[in-house]
Amino acid sequence: MKNILVTGGAGFIGSNFVRYLLHSEPDVRVVNLDALTYAGSQENLQDLPSPERHNFVHGDICDRALVDDLLRRYTIDTIVHFAAETHVDRSIVDPGTFIHTNIVGTFTLLEAARGAWMVEKLLPLEQAHFHHVSTDEVYGTLAPGEPSFTENTPYAPRSPYAASKAASDHLVRSYSTTYGLPITITNCSNNYGPNQFPEKLIPLMVLHARDGKPLPVYGDGQQVRDWLYVEDHCDAIWRVIQKGRTGETYAVGGDNQPPNLEIVNTICHIMDELRPNSPYYPHSQLIQFVADRPGHDRRYSIDINKIHTELGWQPRQSLETGLRETVRWYLEHPDWVQAVAQQPDYQGWIQKNYTNRPKGVQ
Ligand code: NAD
Ligand code: TYD
Repeated sequence: MKNILVTGGAGFIGSNFVRYLLHSEPDVRVVNLDALTYAGSQENLQDLPSPERHNFVHGDICDRALVDDLLRRYTIDTIVHFAAETHVDRSIVDPGTFIHTNIVGTFTLLEAARGAWMVEKLLPLEQAHFHHVSTDEVYGTLAPGEPSFTENTPYAPRSPYAASKAASDHLVRSYSTTYGLPITITNCSNNYGPNQFPEKLIPLMVLHARDGKPLPVYGDGQQVRDWLYVEDHCDAIWRVIQKGRTGETYAVGGDNQPPNLEIVNTICHIMDELRPNSPYYPHSQLIQFVADRPGHDRRYSIDINKIHTELGWQPRQSLETGLRETVRWYLEHPDWVQAVAQQPDYQGWIQKNYTNRPKGVQ
């Protein structure tokens, strides 16, 4: 049996990863450490396959005593680190929590892993593995036509979120070069799919379209992201953990780069098909341009050559089918939406980010 500590496993990608592991790997036990911030929810962990192989622990990755205890109590051999503050817009309004969780939290996990695996030698080091889940946003922004990001692109983060993730990546890499801690890192582009908290572009647009609320497109809507279906990301992470070279970084992306406005229009078309009798048909009438995000990165694009040639990974889901499945999932899970989106924090965020934002700006 492998004993895996997943941090942030009640969030969007973490919960999809826990489900993916329990479903596809019978020899894996999961300890899921999550602080249940506004972005994490036990609703994401309903109906897990083989729940007897899953232990949920409500706690903070910055709590060293707790992490030390979990590593020993469950003889953890693998840490897959998702836990983070993740929303760029929130990092602009309130960067402090990003510094604490993303940098201090990652440092705490690294120190705990070094203590258990390298100082106390609780298990043979060949069996230990620390995988850090990171983002392409550490590389900054691309102009139109500039080559895609690779693992060798210099770091140039431009938001407090991206800067805090960049710092965490540097720490993880330094524990490999300085102490020989067995690590891998993935830097992935924007994910979408079931269970994404509805402050992010795609679920926000689906739910606003469902409810006849404005669809707020920042700036001119021509910013480009490289969208990847969440299950493809889970598959990439697991492949890197199993077959990736220790100490290495792998860039992961979806090979899908439509501008935001096109994504929003596609969501509206899918809504038109699925809800032809909606009073908001055609849903594109709800699109509203609003003032841009400060420092808004213009374009992300990932070159997946390394993970493809070394590990045989490539995305399986196309954006067209993935978006359709995602829209359907949100429409078919009103209880999840109710539980997650009705919390006061979410309503407060929507109020704070959108209500007084200048409209009609392109
Ligand atoms: P999310 O915001 O949906 O979930 C984050 C989870 O971490 C939540 O369950 C939250 O409760 C938990 N958490 C936050 N602070 C914690 C703490 N101090 N201790 C324990 N748990 C804590 O995030 P996500 O979109 O699932 O992203 C997961 C990881 O993947 C992050 O590290 C993010 O940087 C990275 N990533 C995300 C994307 C994306 O498009 N969403 C793309 C690339 C990389
Ligand atoms: P987001 O989902 O916040 O991810 P990230 O900022 O990490 O890429 O945003 C994706 C893109 O959508 C980004 O270019 C900002 C844009 N966006 C909007 O135009 N309107 C919105 O209301 C949101 C939340 C995002």
